[in-house]
Amino acid sequence: MSETALVLTERDGAVATLTINRPDKRNALSTAVRQAFLAAFRAVVDDEAVRVIVVTGAGEKAFVAGADIAEFETRTPVEQYRAMRAPSPLEALERSPKPVIAAINGYCLGGGLELAMACDFRIAAAHALFGQPEINLGIIPGGGGTQRLPRLVGLGHAMRMILSGEPIDAAEALRIGLVQEVVPPDALRARVREVAARIAQKSPVALAAAREATRAALQTPLAEGLRVETGLYLLAFASADKAEGVRAFLEKRTAQFTGR
Ligand code: COA
Repeated sequence: MSETALVLTERDGAVATLTINRPDKRNALSTAVRQAFLAAFRAVVDDEAVRVIVVTGAGEKAFVAGADIAEFETRTPVEQYRAMRAPSPLEALERSPKPVIAAINGYCLGGGLELAMACDFRIAAAHALFGQPEINLGIIPGGGGTQRLPRLVGLGHAMRMILSGEPIDAAEALRIGLVQEVVPPDALRARVREVAARIAQKSPVALAAAREATRAALQTPLAEGLRVETGLYLLAFASADKAEGVRAFLEKRTAQFTGR
């Protein structure tokens, strides 16, 4: 683990934690941070020993306080367009074959909230704050915020956050379904590790199929989503892990999944 890297990678059994490491700038997503994140993310996706990925921010103050606003000042619209069309951490999260959990340890704003929303689910520390403050800069969310937020919390809550730019606290985020669990700040690491480790025991084939099928629910009409589900069900059904899972149940033992 390199201490100076913009994104740190830590392995604990089958769980890899990626920590965005720019705490003096509240872990703001500069171009360099995005590139480092993509490289670190690809490495853990390619590592067969990793079954679950956790994304978090360094320090106690921020998960990610958004895009690096300093970069906005001098960029031309064409440069910004190119930056937004470059391979992005959000696409990588969306297409990940492995579950990704956001461990939200503080400010989760703008591009930070967009990053968290692209993860499969979110566990937050009680002091975390969530918002889409772009409207305060005279812009709008550009990393999927206008699309993912209403899908997660409904149109009214999304509109309130996006139009007002005002943050909500962790209790409110839990209430509207933006996060799935809130824990005391000093319990976040352990709780996320516990949840991740439990998921990491499942079949990697079934995990990949389950997340793709479940994500299809928000992207397709029901009939098409059901067809996606059936196809992915059959992929899992054909796996060695399915044979092992069924046999282990019948033999009253814990299954040992291999991802085959
Ligand atoms: N981009 C660039 N720099 C950022 C940043 C961002 N999104 N968020 C924080 N920083 C920098 C600050 O400029 C400051 O830098 P400096 O020490 O060189 O002056 C440093 O991080 C610490 O920020 P500060 O505001 O002093 O910390 P705080 O704990 O009092 O407040 C926030 C934290 C997150 C509430 C505040 O920094 C903030 O509002 N950030 C912008 C959030 C935002 O609008 N994001 C959406 C971007 S589209």
